Amino acid sequence: MRLSDCHNVEDFRRLARKRLPAPVFHYIDGAADDEVTLRRNTEAFEDCDLVPNVLAGFEEIDMRTTVMGREIAMPLFLSPTALQRLFHWQGERAVAATAEKFGTWFGISSLATVSIEEIGANYSCPKMFQLYVHKDKGLNHMMIERCKLAKFDALTLTVDTIVGGNRERCLRTGFTSPPKITPRSFLSYAAKPGWGLNYLFREKFELPNLSTHLAEGSSVALSIGDYFSTMLDQSLDWNAAEAIRAEWGGEFCLKGVMSVEDAKRAADIGATAIMVSNHGGRQLDGSRSPFDQIAEIADAVGDRIEIICDGGVRRGTHVLKALSAGATAASGGRMYLYALAAAGQPGVERAIGQLRAEIERDMKLMGVSGVGELDRDNLRWR
Ligand code: FNR
Ligand code: LAC
Repeated sequence: MRLSDCHNVEDFRRLARKRLPAPVFHYIDGAADDEVTLRRNTEAFEDCDLVPNVLAGFEEIDMRTTVMGREIAMPLFLSPTALQRLFHWQGERAVAATAEKFGTWFGISSLATVSIEEIGANYSCPKMFQLYVHKDKGLNHMMIERCKLAKFDALTLTVDTIVGGNRERCLRTGFTSPPKITPRSFLSYAAKPGWGLNYLFREKFELPNLSTHLAEGSSVALSIGDYFSTMLDQSLDWNAAEAIRAEWGGEFCLKGVMSVEDAKRAADIGATAIMVSNHGGRQLDGSRSPFDQIAEIADAVGDRIEIICDGGVRRGTHVLKALSAGATAASGGRMYLYALAAAGQPGVERAIGQLRAEIERDMKLMGVSGVGELDRDNLRWR
């Protein structure tokens, strides 16, 4: 299977599976408990049908929108995800370059493998820093200050990881950051020599936004679940979130909001946007899908805060359904991570290019020339 054989996210998932050692593939592909929410996040889009209008009589469509004060060329952006140089040696550099090429937002995680400074200096597209609040308060303050100096466009506080989700695939494979080669995992790493040579002989694996304060994750191997449960501040509350917003002072997004009540509180503390998200099913299994929550949240706070539908997106129609339900834009992780793992920057560019082409084609087939025309009249829930 080659890059030219990849025509959708599922094709990239298959190629990623061929290229990655099993522990790394399952870290991306897996989720919590029985992975019900992982499946539901995408199935939710399939439980809802689009109703097109025809003979609209236009040739050009305009899919631009504005998120947190920045105009973007398509209503879909690349969510922050950790450890990207484990998936492909180009890592966040490939993802940032793709976001820049397609004129949309992207984010780097607190657990990114490329520094805040490098991303800030080299990419002009809108960029968010996704903050995990650690017990080490000096680290939190330092990451925020580094983002200010690097002129990031938004700070996104992730609020659904107070403890690590039960990632049973990672328990079985023994996945850790950095990867630990054990007698049990040796064969799965040895079976992918291409990945292994890149990991061993290219730039040393590190989490440069944390390693000033912590060895864990960079040189002390931990599972992500253990990292969350031991390193993150489990006392995080609304007062702390508001204080972080005030310290940052710029565009502020809460990632992992799912209830109307919390959406209202996010607006009350001055957040610009919320990412309605269940972390791709990786945290609370059994959570409702973000798409299923969009309509009630949009009805409640759509006039006060921007709403991002994050999770389960694998097709252009999923983006159109999310916007029709009331989202400002959609975002996703696996939709580009499989492509990164499969083929680096050419892979991510192909995957995002395909999704952009799907959005354009589907808008034309829907009979809408601009994203502002999408509303619930276009939807019918089964
Ligand atoms: C993530 N996600 C995530 N979120 C976050 O706030 N900080 C992080 O470091 C990560 N890391 C991460 C790694 C991997 C491998 C995945 C798959 C996901 C969650 C991510 O931002 C997003 O919410 C989900 O990926 C959305 O679901 P889909 O699009 O993957 O279905
Ligand atoms: C994950 C964390 C890093 O989902 O957000 O793996």
